Amino acid sequence: MPLARSLSVTSLSGLEEWDEEFDLEDAVLFEIAWEVANKVGGIYTVIQTKARLTAEEWGENYFLVGPYVESNVRTQVELIEPTNPVLKRTIDQMNASGCKIYFGRWLIEGSPYVVLIDVGFTAWSLDRWKRELWEHCGIGVPWFDREANDAVLFGFLTAWLLGEVTQSEESPHIVAHFHEWLAGLGLVLCRQRQLPIATIFTTHATLLGRYLCAGSVDFYNNLAQFNVDKEAGDRQIYHRYCLERAAAHCTHVFTTVSQITAIEAEHLLKRKPDIITPNGLNVKKFSAMHEFQNLHAQSKSRIQEFVRGHFYGHLDFNLDKCLFLFIAGRYEFSNKGADVFLEALARLNYLLRVNHSDVTVIAFFIMPARTNNFNVETLKGQAVRKQLWDTAQTVKERFGKKLYESLLVGQLPDVSKMLDKEDFTIMKRAIFATQRQSQPPVCTHNMLEDSSDPILSCVRRIGLFNSSSDRVKIIFHPEFLSSTSPLLPMDYEEFVRGCHLGVFPSYYEPWGYTPGTECTVMGIPSISTNLSGFGCFMEEHIADPSAYGIYILDRRYKGVDESCNQLTSFLFQFCKQSRRQRIIQRNRTERLSDLLDWRYLGRFYIAARHMALAKAFPDTFIYEPEETASTAGFRYPRPASVPPSPALSRHSSPHHSEAEDNEEDERYDEELEAEKDRVNIRQPYTMPVKNKVSA
Ligand code: UDP
Ligand code: G6P
Ligand code: GLC
Repeated sequence: MPLARSLSVTSLSGLEEWDEEFDLEDAVLFEIAWEVANKVGGIYTVIQTKARLTAEEWGENYFLVGPYVESNVRTQVELIEPTNPVLKRTIDQMNASGCKIYFGRWLIEGSPYVVLIDVGFTAWSLDRWKRELWEHCGIGVPWFDREANDAVLFGFLTAWLLGEVTQSEESPHIVAHFHEWLAGLGLVLCRQRQLPIATIFTTHATLLGRYLCAGSVDFYNNLAQFNVDKEAGDRQIYHRYCLERAAAHCTHVFTTVSQITAIEAEHLLKRKPDIITPNGLNVKKFSAMHEFQNLHAQSKSRIQEFVRGHFYGHLDFNLDKCLFLFIAGRYEFSNKGADVFLEALARLNYLLRVNHSDVTVIAFFIMPARTNNFNVETLKGQAVRKQLWDTAQTVKERFGKKLYESLLVGQLPDVSKMLDKEDFTIMKRAIFATQRQSQPPVCTHNMLEDSSDPILSCVRRIGLFNSSSDRVKIIFHPEFLSSTSPLLPMDYEEFVRGCHLGVFPSYYEPWGYTPGTECTVMGIPSISTNLSGFGCFMEEHIADPSAYGIYILDRRYKGVDESCNQLTSFLFQFCKQSRRQRIIQRNRTERLSDLLDWRYLGRFYIAARHMALAKAFPDTFIYEPEETASTAGFRYPRPASVPPSPALSRHSSPHHSEAEDNEEDERYDEELEAEKDRVNIRQPYTMPVKNKVSA
């Protein structure tokens, strides 16, 4: 194994305070997760976005280990010969012993190396390995749990791989970082086999927490009281729970993504995490600061096009006064707060109607469910829209031709003759095509479990069927977005940019990428809760979150009905904002993105690795505990200018004069300019760091 390059942590911009060298010469990092090059949910985003920073730090000695999934590899990975002689020998040996292991570069920022394991190919070893797991660790995995079977295969194969690497003559110092229970068994086996490896286990949730919250349990008030073995047994996840708990206890360093999940882990997994490793993103900085606002306008107009098609024949609302709200993520109806969102939308609909508001809200639900493709009515909507567009183009061309000919002979056209009978026929035919008997559909796909689907059942109960009188319309898109979709050809990022507000009233959300992080770095305001890792993190670091477009719903100390009322009030206030206020608010939201950049948050991962090295190899590495000193104490101040509170806007009030209006407009213009200036002179945000590491 070649020597790792020596790394000075000062090489990371923004980490100037870390002026001591932590000598990583002769160290190699393996990061192991089921979501490496395999998108399931937020863990994929963690690993994919963090890769650039980690690759910068570890260079050629950084390897991600994940499952081999052919469709993913075809689109995301360039397979190559292993670059590292020890790894090449290991992979060759394992492949000669009946495994199928691939090596490649993951085609993402940082282009990290990936080792991909085809677990299915080694399924013949499953029974033998399960027996070994039972004999050595006392964990029995039932035959019917396919995911757990994959976890067993993946665990034994990763431990095998790491074991071989440690056999090399010039064995380096290895750090192996495992994510989530599905990868945790590899860690348990490394420790049980006493491999000389520094281990880290990061859990992004607890299995039991997720299951308990999805039921009707008062989770947070009973955390200390749960009989964990019984609860896991009752839910038939005892074996999974044992794998997760074993990994948490065997590891040198245990981390999780937020303070709230740390408390949960302490009670349910019975170990307090050593370090919190919050999730970041790679924040893109545009050279023109206003660029993200332009992107919002561009993406919004594409969503508007979709809406034109979806609501054809019922476009009786003003698209310019239409606000796009959305919720997205894995389909966990109550954990992600879709239940509370729907209820609040029903109340908002009532409020907008009784207040005769001219605002229309379209709420998108992007949550993958089982379907058999788009439904005909939805596809027809887009076809009709296209046909109307084509008709308009045809008539425009004919009109243009007549106009041109008239100008050629030096005459102004007779406007009444510019459209002839044929033009009218074409247009009438097109208008007839827009007539429809039914309401615009709520769901864009044919659902396999239509009658029992939780979102659709709730929509039926609250009666929001996209009728003309409703000010709140609902579109349920039960599939993740894709730029190749025939319906809404946008990728998720473009879609988020085009919306006005992300709504994530989660009850169970260890971090929550979709909610906050992704919206925030794109300058889109969002609603999250004080039960989500992201919401708590923002509450801790911002003096007045809502002024920055970060609304934090209280789901911890309030009952469901009260939370619904609070959410309704947030939504109603948002609807009352003027365009100017929304623009100012987006500027403020975007300013928070520095706080969520891996350039800053990556330091907690660095600290975890240093701590693990020091625990596993105490003769070589020393870790000083203050390295984990958090960002505690730092707070974004209240914005200097007036908060964009709708209460300050008198646009909707009929009682004030045009002069007052103009005065107010000027005030907001000034504020907008001031906001732009502030954004332009953006100071790099530096967290106070006391961390010191010595080698
Ligand atoms: N996501 C996506 N396409 C979509 C909707 C969501 O790729 O159409 C991604 C989103 O970018 C986010 C992830 O799904 O990174 C969900 O992560 P989150 O942490 O919010 O929740 P999880 O599903 O892991 O509980
Ligand atoms: C951005 C664009 C503006 C546009 C505005 C619409 O700020 O730069 O040109 O008017 O978005 O904002 P809205 O909140 O109404 O979508
Ligand atoms: C989990 C959590 C989510 C978190 C993600 C990444 O899937 O449910 O809240 O953002 O992991 O850490």
